[in-house]
Parts: sequence; structure tokens; C-alpha cells
Amino acid sequence: MSTGIVVVGAQWGDEGKGKVVDHLATDAAVVVRYQGGANAGHTLVVGGQKTVLHLVPSGILHPGKCCAIGAGCVVDPHELATELASLRAAGVAVEPDRMWISLRAQLVLPPHQRLDKAREAAAGAKRLGTTGRGIGPAYEDAVGRRGVRMVDLLDPDRLRSRVEGVLRERNLVLEGLGAEPFTTDEVLAPLLEIAEELGPFITDVGHRLDAHLRAGDIVLFEGAQGSLLDVSHGTYPFVTSSATVAGSASVGAGVGPGAVGRVVGITKAYATRVGAGPFPTELNDETGERLRRVGAEFGATTGRPRRCGWFDAVALRYAARINGLTEIALTKLDVLSGLETLQIAVGYKADGVDLESFPAVDLEQVEPVFETVEGWSEPIEGARVRDALPEAARAYVRRLEELVGVPVSMVSVGPGREAIIPWSSETYQSRHKSYSSK
Ligand code: IMP
Repeated sequence: MSTGIVVVGAQWGDEGKGKVVDHLATDAAVVVRYQGGANAGHTLVVGGQKTVLHLVPSGILHPGKCCAIGAGCVVDPHELATELASLRAAGVAVEPDRMWISLRAQLVLPPHQRLDKAREAAAGAKRLGTTGRGIGPAYEDAVGRRGVRMVDLLDPDRLRSRVEGVLRERNLVLEGLGAEPFTTDEVLAPLLEIAEELGPFITDVGHRLDAHLRAGDIVLFEGAQGSLLDVSHGTYPFVTSSATVAGSASVGAGVGPGAVGRVVGITKAYATRVGAGPFPTELNDETGERLRRVGAEFGATTGRPRRCGWFDAVALRYAARINGLTEIALTKLDVLSGLETLQIAVGYKADGVDLESFPAVDLEQVEPVFETVEGWSEPIEGARVRDALPEAARAYVRRLEELVGVPVSMVSVGPGREAIIPWSSETYQSRHKSYSSK
């Protein structure tokens, strides 16, 4: 049996993946990040205490679970060392026997971050609204075959030569944009220092995962960002620079695709997006403001206010298809309490014509077709079983399930670890069957 479970964002990121991974980690042996870098921000609330992780997988707060950063990630080594130190300070055991960093993961270096910011500044109104964490430039160097990898930290001579290779290219671009270039030693000296600290954690992650999968252990593949930010399948060019979809899990972690048995898509009960780019169901009104306020919709990494809107079933059907979602975890249902009516985008029109699929271009031009459903007034944070929810809330979940065509397996009604309602679909019987869009 395939014991791998992929947890993937089904919208534009910030769906609450960290919380769902934290929940599923109880039964898992390993949690592995397979793409992205410190552009992600997972906020976890455990015992009333808030922890924000950018690189370390959310599973680290479970004693005894192993956590890994896969080959498909781009890692800012200073950020990683800071996170490990703050976890240790909070009393979390972070030792090389349970924290693994792939030999093959790429490094995000200060020139990548400076370049990311310089490009955004130069783009003016056309900027993408990146997190400024150097993600795009680091992936460019990776596929440009001049990147610096974790394994290079273990050999100072090779490290120097790799850093020189990056700077040969990147300094030219920095200067072209009017930004300061770097000297080799400026980049190298802090890396040599950090290499001592990170060295013991650097290992062959794919090999270790393989041993667990062969033993029948559950391995969680923790996605970052969301499907609509995928570099190929998202709202290009307003995307991140990695493949965020579920198929990327095996590539980025270093195991075969047969390892994956379940693909859990995480979606909020409404929609948000941070950064620029099309967002068909966006609300630029009092309701959008209310969702932002009640849902505390501010970026965990940059603090930016998130754009808010209604649930978009067209986008979700697309996410279900491109990820092969086997189930959905619905988050933040509690945020909708108190709204008299709710809207759900059930289709798109462009020039008056119905669109059959999520468009690859001109998403700005589409007009969502909304269905209005009844809201509920009661607060629902305290509900722990489905029957404790008002009928209108249950009907809302059922309707989303029908529209997306994938069974809901859990519903989250608050930020705390315990605020999760296990859900056995009323509409779909099988949880493990793969549903694609209709
Ligand atoms: P980058 O990943 O920093 O290059 O940013 C590219 C786009 O992805 C921007 O719109 C960011 O706001 C968005 N983005 C990157 N990481 C996240 C995330 O973890 N959550 C939500 N949006 C993200």
C-alpha cells in the first residue's frame, strides 16, 4: 500500500496547510517539505502559543517525528539556522536523528534576495508582489546549473568555486539594475560559519524516506504555497518559481510517484490571495474587509494584508484535477459565521460565453457566475462534531463538495490544534478514490 500523503494548497497559498499537516502528523513517521523556501510561512498554534515556521516542516512540534527538507527546496541557510535555534529555545528537540536537510537542496544566497528586491523595485506597477526572499533567482540558478547546493557546504574549496560561479552571473544583473554587487568573501565567510552548524543535518533525504516507505510508515509530503501559484499550472506569470502541485512531491522529495496514496487538498471556506495577479472572486468592499479582519488575513511571512473573496468552485475543480485530489480539508469555516448570505462562484463567463475550464490567460477578463446560499449567525469555533454545526453550515460544506467533486474529510473551525471536525462525506462514500473535475 502507498503510505505517502501529499498535503497541497488548493488555492493561492495560506490555506492552513500547517495546521492540517500538524493534525495528520500524529500518525506519520516523517514530514517532508518538497518545494519552495522561506517564502512560505506556516503559523501553528499549540497550547495557545503561536509558532511561525518558514522552512522547517510543521511536524517538528511532534516529539519523535522526523522532519525533512527535500531536494526540490531552496534554503536560506541563515533563516534555517535561526529557526532551528528558536525551536531549541522553545524546548523542541532538534537533532540530526530527526531533522534532515537534503544534500541536493539549493541554497538561497544574499545576491538572490537583493536581486529579487531590485527587480521588484525596477518593475514598478508591473511588480509580481514577491515575498522578497530570493526564491525566483535561486530557482533560476538551480535550473541554470550554477546553483550552490547543501552538499557544497561540506567542502570549503568547492563551496568557494560554486559561489564564484553564482556571482559571475548575478553581479552583472545586480549592477545592471543599479544594485550593489557582492564580493566572494562577503557571501562565503558567513556560509563557512553556518556550514559547521548545519553540516550534521545534511543527508540523503530520498534514501531515508525510502526506508520508511518500505517499512510501511506514513510519510507526509508538505506542500508550500498553493496550486494556483504553480509555475506551470498557476496564474502565470503571477506565480512562484516552483512546481507546487502534488506531482511535485515525489520529484522534490526524491521518491517515486507510487509512494503517494492520498492527496489532501487544503482550501479555505472562502478565498484569499497575497501579491499581484488575477483573483476573479475578490471582494473590494465591506465584506472583503470583514473576512480580512475576522480571518486575520495578514501574511505570515511579509505581514501584508491578504486580498479576500468568495469561494471559487471553478478554481477548486481545476485544483482537484491537476493535483488528483482524493479529499479536501476545509479550513476557516468559522470566519463565515454572521454573514446573512454567502456567494459561491460556480462558473465563469468571458464575453458572455460560459468557460468550461480554468483559463490559462485573460483571467482578469472573466466574470464569475455566483450562486447565493444561506449563511448562519451562530459562532461555531466550539463545534467538534458535524452535528454541532448549524444546518446552513453543513449545507454549505455539502454544496462545496458537490461543486468540486471531491469528498471533504475534515473541517477546521478555529486556529487551535483541537479545532478540527473529522468529516465523513455525506455525498461521497469513498475517501481514497481519486476524483477529477467533471
Ligand atoms: P515568491 O514566491 O516570493 O517569488 O512570490 C511569488 C508570488 O507567490 C507572490 O504573489 C507571493 O505573494 C506568492 N507567495 C509566495 N509564497 C507564498 C505563500 O507561502 N503564501 C501565499 N502566497 C505566497
